[in-house]
Amino acid sequence: MVQLTSTDLRDEILALKKERNAVILAHNYQVGPLQDIADYVGDSLGLSYRARETDAEVIAFCGVHFMAETAKIINPEKTVVLPDKDAGCSLEQSCPPEELAAFLRENEEKNYYVIAYINCSAGVKALSDVICTSGNAVKIVESAPTDRPILFVPDQNLGEWVMSKTGREMDLWQGACYVHVEFTRESISRIREAHPDAAVVAHPECTTAVRMLADEVCSTEKMIDFCRNSPAENIIVVTESGMLHRLRKEVPNKNLIAGPTDRCACADCRYMKLNTMEKLYQCLRDLQPEITLPEDVRRRAEAPILRMLELSK
Ligand code: 13P
Ligand code: SF4
Repeated sequence: MVQLTSTDLRDEILALKKERNAVILAHNYQVGPLQDIADYVGDSLGLSYRARETDAEVIAFCGVHFMAETAKIINPEKTVVLPDKDAGCSLEQSCPPEELAAFLRENEEKNYYVIAYINCSAGVKALSDVICTSGNAVKIVESAPTDRPILFVPDQNLGEWVMSKTGREMDLWQGACYVHVEFTRESISRIREAHPDAAVVAHPECTTAVRMLADEVCSTEKMIDFCRNSPAENIIVVTESGMLHRLRKEVPNKNLIAGPTDRCACADCRYMKLNTMEKLYQCLRDLQPEITLPEDVRRRAEAPILRMLELSK
C-alpha cells in the first residue's frame, strides 16, 4: 500500500466513508486517531444503541470482534466490517459456546436463567436469556426472575461486583479479562501513595481487591461523568489505556492518571490495539474483513440483545 501522511489518510477515510454510506463507531479503548475520526465513541452499551439506530449501509466497527458481531446480529441487512479480524477478547475466549451448552445440559434440572455479559460470542448469546453490559448489568440482574437460579457468564469479576450491588446470588462462569486482572491492590496502593488526594475510578472487570480501593466502579462511559463531577483534581483511572484519550479531551481541567499494573505504567488491551487508521482505510475500501454468521445463530442471539436494549431504556 502507498504510504499516506496521517492527514491524507484521514481525508481518504472520510471520502470512503461518504462513498460507502458508512458510519464509524469506535470503542473508548481505541487508539486516539480512530476515536477522533469516529462518528460515535462510547462503551459497549452506547455502541449497541448507535448500531441499532443508524441508517448507514455499512458499519465500520473500531472495537473488538464481539462488538462488531453484536452490531451485525441486530443489523443483518447491513455490511459490518472490523479493521482487524483478530481483534478478539480474553473474556469471549474463556467461554466457548460448546462448553456452555454442555454445562447447561449437565445442569438441566436447575433451569438456569442465563445472563451473558456482552463480551462473548454470538454462540454464547444464542444460549442466553438476556445480555448485559457493564453499564446496565445491575439493572439487568435486578430484573431477572426470582424463581430461577441465575448463571452469569463469562466474567466472574463483573459477576461478583453485580452480586455485591444487588444482593442476588448467581453462579459465575470463571472467565476474566486479562487486562483488568493485571491491576493489583499493590500497584493501585503505590500510585495512591504518590497522589494521596486522588480519587480512584475502576472498571468492574477488575478484581474485588482492586474494586475495594475505588471511589467509583463503573463502565467506561460512566467514567466520563465521574471524572467531570468529582471534586478531586487528580483521578486515577483503572482501566485500559485508551480511555485516557477520551477523558483528557472531555475533562481537560483534571489531572487524569493511568492506573498502573505491576508490569507497566498503563494497561493496553492487545486486541483493541490491533485496529489502526491504515486498517480502517483498507476495510472501508475493500469491505473486508466482514462480519458474517449463520442465520439461525444470529436469530437466537438477537432476542437476548433486544431484551437487554428494551430493559435498559
Ligand atoms: P465498557 O462497556 O464499559 O466500555 O467495557 C467494555 C470492555 O471491553 C471492557 O474491557
Ligand atoms: Fe476483552 Fe479485556 Fe480487551 Fe475488554 S479489555 S476487549 S474485556 S480483553
